[in-house]
Amino acid sequence: MSTTRSLTRLTRALATLAGAALIVPLGLVSTAGAEPAADSDRAAAATLREAAATKGRFVGAALYQGALNNEASYRTIAGREFSSVTAENEMKWDATEPNRGQFSYGRGDAIVNFAASAGQQVHGHTLVWHSQLPSWVNGVPAGELRSVMNNHITNVMQHYRGKVQTWDVVNEAFNEDGSRRQSVFQQRIGNGYIADAFRAARAADPNAKLYINDYNVEGVNAKSNAMYNLVRDLRAQGVPIDGVGLQAHFIAGQVPSSLQQNIQRFADLGVDVRITELDVRIQLPADSGKLNTQANDYRKVVQACLAVSRCRGVTIWGFTDKHSWVPGVFPGYGAALIYDANYQPKPAYNAVLSSFGG
Ligand code: XIL
Repeated sequence: MSTTRSLTRLTRALATLAGAALIVPLGLVSTAGAEPAADSDRAAAATLREAAATKGRFVGAALYQGALNNEASYRTIAGREFSSVTAENEMKWDATEPNRGQFSYGRGDAIVNFAASAGQQVHGHTLVWHSQLPSWVNGVPAGELRSVMNNHITNVMQHYRGKVQTWDVVNEAFNEDGSRRQSVFQQRIGNGYIADAFRAARAADPNAKLYINDYNVEGVNAKSNAMYNLVRDLRAQGVPIDGVGLQAHFIAGQVPSSLQQNIQRFADLGVDVRITELDVRIQLPADSGKLNTQANDYRKVVQACLAVSRCRGVTIWGFTDKHSWVPGVFPGYGAALIYDANYQPKPAYNAVLSSFGG
């Protein structure tokens, strides 16, 4: 074994111990000593977050509170590898305001507390979205919906003030052809609901960075053109918007070739950009060729982000194939993340690490 490799093993062992230490304040049981050792054979930077930090970027993961509660391996890797977290579901409207005026923060708080103990930033997801919206919102009379929306934004953001640094204020506002999605907000409040939402968000937490987020806007196309025009117009009108989130739910082999160009044009509007929900799904069964294609796709995304200084970082939508939304939503597809279902790093892990310079 080379000296570098021994040192890497030592660093990794120390990192695992650090991971164990950071979960103690949560009062959770540590089994970090039982962590699989198979990912110890890599050279260079010990963790994704260390590598990303050398480039001034974050590397994030969406976390799921059930696994944080129940699985030590999940906690250990989540704390060790990532510098930013997003709640996969726990801050959505159905979780935070299940009944009108009745707010519920327990599950979101669990994510925030974990992040605090692991020294991670939190990206808030999401305030105004047509999906995972409790049915009572659809019954709100048109004349009341704007104040219901603003009240939701205000309550949630004030609860997380100082703990959540960035927010997806509006999610998935567009159809594929660039027209506005006919959400209840669009229908009852009209085009101005987006500007209203951002103004309410700025007032609720002036320190938070405010993003608009969507999928299929990663390359230059009709939908991303619409997003571009909206952001340009909002900025011209003085509406407080700070960033654009590109979800990046990709199919292996299909990362848009215009990704970097698209990130750059948003950055040139004077806003930050982040990759918010990266996963690269594979048509099952996975094999080594597909896993290598996937690794190359992850590399392309990280490289595109690194090429644009206003691209703040990359969040992966989960990290282990054990907990991924992909198989449930895209039948026949899976294996979309950077660790396999047994918490072993895949080629995609190494691609992300080395792309960040690790
Ligand atoms: C998904 C979650 O991953 C699932 O657990 C949930 O059942 C549905 O939502 N775009 C988004 C995310 O903005 O909130 C979605 O997350 C994935 C697509």
